[in-house]
Formats: sequence, C-alpha cells, structure tokens
Amino acid sequence: MKKSGAIYKALLISAKSPKKLKIYNPGFLVISPEGIIENISKKDPRKKLKNYSFHDYSGFLICPGFIDTHNHLSQYSFAGLEGQELLTWLKTYAFPEEKKFKDQKIAQIAAQNFFQELIRNGTTTTLTYITTHKIATDIAFQQAQKSKIRAIIGKVMMDQNSPRFLIEKTAQSLKDSLELIDKWHNKDGRLFYALTPRFAITCSRKLMQDIGKIAQEKNVYVQTHLSENHQEIQITQKLFPQYKSYTDIYYQTGLLCPRTILAHCIHLTSTEIQLIKKTQSKIAHCPTSNRFLMSGIMPFRKYQNLNLQMSLGTDVAGGYSLSMLNEMREAIENSKTVILFQGKKNIPPMTITEAFYLATLGGAKNLSLQSQIGSLEKGKQADFLITDPISIDPMRDKSPYQNPIQLLSKLIYRGNNSVIKEVYIKGEKIMIYKKHQSLLRNPHFSAKSS
Ligand code: GUN
Ligand code: ZN
Repeated sequence: MKKSGAIYKALLISAKSPKKLKIYNPGFLVISPEGIIENISKKDPRKKLKNYSFHDYSGFLICPGFIDTHNHLSQYSFAGLEGQELLTWLKTYAFPEEKKFKDQKIAQIAAQNFFQELIRNGTTTTLTYITTHKIATDIAFQQAQKSKIRAIIGKVMMDQNSPRFLIEKTAQSLKDSLELIDKWHNKDGRLFYALTPRFAITCSRKLMQDIGKIAQEKNVYVQTHLSENHQEIQITQKLFPQYKSYTDIYYQTGLLCPRTILAHCIHLTSTEIQLIKKTQSKIAHCPTSNRFLMSGIMPFRKYQNLNLQMSLGTDVAGGYSLSMLNEMREAIENSKTVILFQGKKNIPPMTITEAFYLATLGGAKNLSLQSQIGSLEKGKQADFLITDPISIDPMRDKSPYQNPIQLLSKLIYRGNNSVIKEVYIKGEKIMIYKKHQSLLRNPHFSAKSS
C-alpha cells in the first residue's frame, strides 16, 4: 500500500541556535510519505493536503529527537553503580564487563536492550563505543539496524596498557576496524562508523597514527576521550613525554579533524583549546559522568564564548542515565556549579535554550548531520518526539505556568522517559509509549525488555 503523508498539530519547539528557539503554538508539522519534513507552519494546511492523515496532539509538545553524542553500549548493565574515580572505575567495572562481550549472546542481548532503551528515552541518533571485540561490534550494528535508530558505532581500539583480556595487536585492531568500515559505514543512510581509540593511555603512537590516516582515507568519524581526570592526564603526559600536551598527542598523530568527537575535555589549557578550534574537532560534554566519576566540571560558558562546538553525551555508564532530559538538566546545574565555585556571579549559567540546542541541533552539527537532522525544518528528515509535559506537572492542565518556555523547562527539569509518548525516525513511528511501557508496532520491541 502506498504510504500517505501526515500532519501533526501540537506545540512545536525546535532550536535555531544556542540562543534562539523556533516556537509554533500551535503549529502544523507536515511529513511527506518519504519521511521528510515538507512544511512547518502556523496555518492549518489540511485544505491543501486532503489525502494526508491528520493527528491532533493539542496539549502535547513536539520537538526534534535527541542526539546522544557519547556513550558506551557495553557498559549499560552496570549504570548507576557507585562512582569512583576514572581509572579505578575502569578496572573495577568497565573492563571486566567489556570482557563479557566475547560471548555473542551477551553482546546481542545488550545491544538490543541498549537501542530499545535509547529510543524509549527519545534518543533518535547516538554515537557509541562497543568493546574491542569485532563480532560484538558487528552485532551492535545489526541490532541498531533492526531498531531503526540512527547510530554511529565503533569497535574500541586498545593495544597497550590494557588488561590482557582486552588488549589487541595493533595490526589486528586496524584490520578489524577496516572490515567493519567496509561493511557498515554509511549503511541505509542511518549507520556510520567511528574509529574508536579508547584514550591515549591504551593506544600506541603507531595505532593512533594509522587511525588518523584511515579516518582521512575513508572519511569516517573518530571518537575518543580527552582530558577527563587529573590522574589520567598525568599518566598520559608521562607515557608520551615527546608531546606538549594530551591534546597535542592526538593532534600530532593526526586524530583531530572535523569528524572527531572528543568526550569530556574538562581540564584543557588554552593551547589545547586552540588545537581543537584549529582542527574543528568537536566536544561531547558529559556533565552527569563528569560529576558521577568526580572528574571535574567542564567550563561551559568559557568554551561557548570561545565558539567551541559542543554537544551532549550521557557517557553511560560513567553517566548513570540514558535520558537526554537528565543530561540537559545536569548540564545546566553543572554550569551553575562552575560559577559558584569561581565566585564569579556575573557569568551566566547555561540556559534552557542552550541545553536544548546542545541535545538537538548542536548534536547534529557535531556529527556533521545538521543538513539532515537536529531541528524541525523543511527538507530535514522527520526525527521527532511527541512529549507530554503536562503529565508531570504538579497541577496537570490546571497549571498557570504553561507558556512554551515554561513547558520546555518543566520537561527538562522534571521529565523522564514517561514523558516521551511517541518516537518517530524518518517519519516512521518507532515507539508508542502506552500504559505499561509496552513497546508496540516495531516487532523488534516484542522481545522482552529489561
Ligand atoms: N576513558 C577511557 N575509557 C573510558 C570509559 O570507558 N569511560 C569514561 N568515562 N572515560 C574513559
Ligand atoms: Zn566515555
């Protein structure tokens, strides 16, 4: 049967820039049969589009799908276990858990659950780390494909200073990654590959140099961690004394480019910041994890004033939640903490608009996908969420605080996955959130959820 187009009526909110939102109250979102945003208007288009289905979501808020630009699929099972500092935490939880991904069944169940949970939280695009296992990474791509999420995925690479059960031979690590690139990069227009050197401590210079070359040749993404924890920085500088700084290691080995996403970047010096700007590398800000692992507080306002390009990442399981609503509020609260500790009362904290931008259009820009996703704009792919901020309001629909910004603020501060009612990717309804969280429609979700 030929698919018809669809019209959605609701409060529509989308970011234009870190400072500006586009609000239609109410608005009409017109989706083509191919899943592209055909129009967005205040005027009712029904007279002109008689064969389009009409969906009245008055009282609901429609926004773009969220974009999580840093997380670890392989760590989700221990999310929320007490935080320690990074290096101890890696040894205690992350490495032993990642070892289990040698088992294909474990890798398959974990991947299926992870993408399902991301979608349930309103995330329609993700950038994620698997483990050093090639097959587990291949399985993750298969599960992402089934779930219909947009995903940029990478096999973790580590060829030094790693536990014996995860360490790889340099050549094998590169070979496995190349094979995965050939199989999965740019598949269905939704799946992409990210070369994933874990961080400098676990990567040899040769590995990083070769990754830099492959990234250029194949035009794939690079993701890694940078300047997260003081002890990590000290060890890195001892391991690589020939370089001027932690960032300089990545710069000199050719890892920094516009498709590089650097997680954390908390303790950067001004020279390091210049290298990131010069190479147009991107920062995935992970405020929940930064506090949970006591790594530090990233100086958001300083970076914003310097025009660094930032997005948000949950960093599960350094972060305890896959919810980008949680990540937005953590980002705002973290930015206040910097100001409180520096005693500089005249620095403005992150605003609701900025947080929303980072979770949507900022994420799309950091992944170089802004021409396709990140906002409700004509010509973009229709990735959007139907949310219900009224349902979590203490006064429900009797609340006197219902202007669009107030609703968005309540959504961010009080929302969890229960406010995400429906999730659409490329115009297709992927998730309907009914009473007992039953996930209908997409047969992928008929599998038992956690
Ligand atoms: N640095 C190197 N590996 C990791 C990891 O798995 N999580 C976090 N948060 N930082 C890292
Ligand atoms: Zn991480």
